[in-house]
Amino acid sequence: MQMSPEVPIIVANWKMNPQTEDEAVELLAALKRAVGKKGLGGQVVIAPPAIFLSRVRSAVEKMGAHLAVQAVSSEKMGAFTGEYSVSMVQSVGVTHVIAGHSERRARGETDESINLQVTRALKANLSVIVCVGEKERDVHGRYFGMVEEQVRRAFAGVPASKLASVMVAYEPVWAISTSSAHAHPATPEDAHEMILFIRKVLTDLYGRTAAERARILYGGSVDQKNIAPLVARSGAQGYLVGGASLRPYEFAAIVETVYG
Ligand code: PGA
Repeated sequence: MQMSPEVPIIVANWKMNPQTEDEAVELLAALKRAVGKKGLGGQVVIAPPAIFLSRVRSAVEKMGAHLAVQAVSSEKMGAFTGEYSVSMVQSVGVTHVIAGHSERRARGETDESINLQVTRALKANLSVIVCVGEKERDVHGRYFGMVEEQVRRAFAGVPASKLASVMVAYEPVWAISTSSAHAHPATPEDAHEMILFIRKVLTDLYGRTAAERARILYGGSVDQKNIAPLVARSGAQGYLVGGASLRPYEFAAIVETVYG
């Protein structure tokens, strides 16, 4: 299933939820009921926990959605206890790989490992969703430099010919709903400013035409209330949705707002 560059993408990141396979199946069934006859429409990517991928694959595909994994191993194969390789996830129907989520960076994932995940996934013709974002903002704007560094390191050695399979998700850590009691979404204007900046970094790396092929998404406390202003003013070409993707009716409302 090819993805159209003009249509925004919505990625549902279930994180480490739900707790059982049956509940994962039920969550998809509930989403199906919530979207009703209209279906998911557009271009929705669902990222369940890796252990449920095989079980939910056919339901995801029947809904016309794409299947993502939340992370892959930076290693190709072999003695790496507890890891999943690109080939493994591809063999159970995964088409998209999330790399560099801040919750994984916080647990020790390095730029080097993220870069290996990105290059291995792209080489296998998978699409990648690379998460970048600052932990906090400072009045001097140093966070721009931090995000630039994350982008440059993630894409080291990635050829321009692969950019159509690349998405950069700008997810400021302070905006992720579960990051702290004070988490709040970025304003559409703040998201827009950083999206333009990331586009500039990609343009510096690859030139204008190639950089235009990469998509830039926004993530962080996206919900049914803030999605409309984000669509209107952030300039994002898609959204990464965490908490709200576990609430079928809310996720369906987000889908409805984005695709109409
Ligand atoms: P949130 O999570 O929508 O719950 O803020 C987004 C993410 O971490 O990808």
